[in-house]
Amino acid sequence: RTVDWTAEAAEKGGYDHYMIKEIHEQPTAIRQILECHGSGELTDLDPGTLEGVEEVQFVACGTSYHAALYGSYVFAERGIPASTHLASEYATHERPVGEGMLVVAVTQSGETADTLAAIETAQRAGARTLAVTNVVGSSASRVCDDALYIRAGPEIGVAATKTFSSQVVALSLFADRLAGEDSPGGPVAFDSLPWGIQRILDTSRSRDVAERYRGRDAFFFIGRGVGYPVALEGALKFKEISYEHAEGFAAGELKHGPLALVTPASVVFAVFTGRDDEKLLGNVREAQTRGATVVAITDGTNEEVLRQADDVLFVPESEPAVAGLLANVQLQLISYHAAALLGRPIDKPRNLAKSVTVE
Ligand code: G6P
Repeated sequence: RTVDWTAEAAEKGGYDHYMIKEIHEQPTAIRQILECHGSGELTDLDPGTLEGVEEVQFVACGTSYHAALYGSYVFAERGIPASTHLASEYATHERPVGEGMLVVAVTQSGETADTLAAIETAQRAGARTLAVTNVVGSSASRVCDDALYIRAGPEIGVAATKTFSSQVVALSLFADRLAGEDSPGGPVAFDSLPWGIQRILDTSRSRDVAERYRGRDAFFFIGRGVGYPVALEGALKFKEISYEHAEGFAAGELKHGPLALVTPASVVFAVFTGRDDEKLLGNVREAQTRGATVVAITDGTNEEVLRQADDVLFVPESEPAVAGLLANVQLQLISYHAAALLGRPIDKPRNLAKSVTVE
């Protein structure tokens, strides 16, 4: 008997696609970055990069933009003002850059043209720059004053998965490094994150949920706080690989427009993180009143959420800054299964590229 293995199948290590392999690599990727942090290697940055930083501007595209937006919430909790900019918009004009400003380019590949252009704009305005990237020696790591590596290992699937999680952890650890002794909030406790992700991978009902709502007209993703970037990322992943109509919204914005799209043929994924859950429940009801089916991503500790939701995907209990990352894993799985059920070419979606080197 001959075994019909291609080199590519071998590299996928028994998984059908790189995407699902990389989703499963997240516990290891997170452990790697936490170990580097523990040994002091991760934020081994030039003191000049960090001295007197009072404010941070993130520039990024796509999934990296969502990770940066998530990061900006963590920075704010630590008392460091941070704003997040789409790189393609940042590069349209120079902004005033004060002494204490650090511009942080978040880019998995380190080669995205829009992000490189934003770095150039920032540098022309006199800003210090830092690249947060997965690729050692990438263009972003070379042109920025300094680089912080997320150490997620190579990511082949066009849809970014494990690098989102590693970017968020890297940015949070960087926030710890910047926050002074008497800063508000405390470091995010990521120790249980690899375990939490593994638990989701072992128990997720995401395939059943994807099967149940296959053929619906539209898929909406809503959240508040860090649940908002997760909603945006959930929708991006869903549209990228399933080609279904998917949109992410800040839950509070539903009533300012998107509600007009909600019908009994819609499915709404609501990301509960343990913060502002009551308000999010109000938004869930708004969608249900228009006939939509709501799937809650929740740790199950709020009974009202369990009563109100039409369907549930569980995550282990954790603090809000970690809960968003766990919810994101459930949404990665939903997108993957929805796309697989439709027979889509998951690792190479039409019209998209892993690294976009044109502006
Ligand atoms: C492309 C990829 C996305 C990625 C984005 C930014 O559009 O398809 O998955 O998020 O580029 O890439 P970067 O390498 O800068 O993170």
